[in-house]
Amino acid sequence: MKKILALVFIGLLISCKKENQENFGKPAEVETATTQKPEDLGKEIFDGKGVCYTCHKPDTKTVGPSIKEIAKIYREKGGSIVDFLQEKSEPIVDPSQYATMKTNFAITKNLPEEELKALEAYMLSF
Ligand code: HEC
Repeated sequence: MKKILALVFIGLLISCKKENQENFGKPAEVETATTQKPEDLGKEIFDGKGVCYTCHKPDTKTVGPSIKEIAKIYREKGGSIVDFLQEKSEPIVDPSQYATMKTNFAITKNLPEEELKALEAYMLSF
């Protein structure tokens, strides 16, 4: 008798779990179809209209520091990439090369705050 009760109980648990998963799954699917993650939008801008990729590669220093290096320093120092791209804060990664980066503010200062935040989220994801 005890065994049967235990089996029924387990059966109930499993069916409850399934229901939960089904209910959880649905709204999540709708969400991913309509909203974009900031990192993904950031990547789109970084590799697209921002043309940041021409000077910044994920791992290696080219014209500019690698994205990983920038992310590391910004995380350590708690800096704001959004402020930097609006020319509201000083360079903290490689001030000696600041003049080269400055030419991009013509682009970044015209981007909406949401897109700058997306760029920051993308860079800090490294
Ligand atoms: C013409 C080459 C070039 C392009 C294009 C470029 N960068 Fe840079 N970037 C640099 C150089 C060189 C530095 C190093 C100087 C410095 O640290 O300011 C730099 C530094 C940075 C830093 C670190 C700033 C700091 O605190 O020192 C960030 C953040 C950054 N770039 C973001 C971007 C983003 C976002 C884009 C695209 C909108 C972009 N860069 C496009 C050359 C470039």
